[in-house]
Amino acid sequence: MKAIAWTKYGSPEVLELREFEKPSPKKDEVLIKIHASSVTAGDSRLRAFKVPMGFWLPTRLAFGVLKPRKPIPGMDISGEIESVGEDVKLFKKGDKVYGTTGIKLGANAEYTCLSENSALVKKPNSVTHEQAAAIIFGGLAALHFLRDKANIQKGQKVLVNGASGAVGTASVQLAKYFGAEVTGICSTSNIELVESLGAKKVIDYTKEDFARNGEIYDVILDTVGNLSLTRCKKSLMKQGKLILINAGLLTNLLSIAKKNLICGVAGENKEGLDFLGERIEAGDIKAVIDRIHPLAQTAEAHRYVDTGHKKGNVVIAVEHK
Ligand SMILES: NC(=O)c1ccc[n+]([C@@H]2O[C@H](COP(=O)([O-])OP(=O)(O)OC[C@H]3O[C@@H](n4cnc5c(N)ncnc54)[C@H](OP(=O)(O)O)[C@@H]3O)[C@@H](O)[C@H]2O)c1
Repeated sequence: MKAIAWTKYGSPEVLELREFEKPSPKKDEVLIKIHASSVTAGDSRLRAFKVPMGFWLPTRLAFGVLKPRKPIPGMDISGEIESVGEDVKLFKKGDKVYGTTGIKLGANAEYTCLSENSALVKKPNSVTHEQAAAIIFGGLAALHFLRDKANIQKGQKVLVNGASGAVGTASVQLAKYFGAEVTGICSTSNIELVESLGAKKVIDYTKEDFARNGEIYDVILDTVGNLSLTRCKKSLMKQGKLILINAGLLTNLLSIAKKNLICGVAGENKEGLDFLGERIEAGDIKAVIDRIHPLAQTAEAHRYVDTGHKKGNVVIAVEHK
């Protein structure tokens, strides 16, 4: 099979299309013919090894100390079950599925094997493979931080910094779905996009500083990495919560003691994927796709994601000849 290989951390040039042996599923695994994967900000940061301060060692231990331990990068996939191991009960050949390989990586490929118990679920029929692959990274993060950690409630005022990125576009839509009044922060060229996703107000960060306009929020979600408790002090309600998803180790430790500060890492699970699938099918949210590249152009996709200015998501379409 064809897949993207990486043998070291570094610039997008470390990624190249190569021939690999097609994997075969173990007893509890399914073999997935991948139709779409993605290149997320997480993939680009891992490739370049730009991790939040204090996370260098744990991340190297997880992914490979001197070089990447797993030969194929990428986490999010949408595809079709080609065969199943003898103990598999949840899936059968032909099922359309989507999910994430997590730290196992291997998504930027024509095929991969996953345990039936991993974060993998049936894909709703009305959702394309590209849309399904695109919603996973931002959708699961938004769900984890807004619903599971901040316990977002109807009528609350929510501010999303970085509202035009993968996590931002999912957060604006999910916060609106949960009944919040959403304000998004983005640059001039993304105002229309963020408004179209349901934000009641949009702040152009090139023209206005949210911290000086007198507005206060129940929840502030920062996906960019340029906010702090001190900077948000005047913009948060007394019981308000600040979510910093890019925080370094010290801020993560501080969040254990501070009730109004939420950090950490979003996990992946079947429930979250099913929830996102249902929401897309019902028209409550949509996957925002900026660009779609063929598998052979994964390095090109990384180069674009590296700019830090993608709108929503970058998808890799995998063609099977
Ligand atoms: N902790 C976790 O579990 C977790 C989970 C998911 C993601 N993350 C992290 O969260 C970060 C965001 O991920 P993502 O996928 O959403 O990134 P992304 O898609 O690359 O975000 C790009 C967006 O950020 C916007 N942006 C850049 N500078 C900005 C600024 N100063 N103010 C407001 N918006 C700005 C850009 O808009 P303009 O072009 O308009 O500037 C662009 O649309 C990544 O670092 C990722 O690793 C953490």
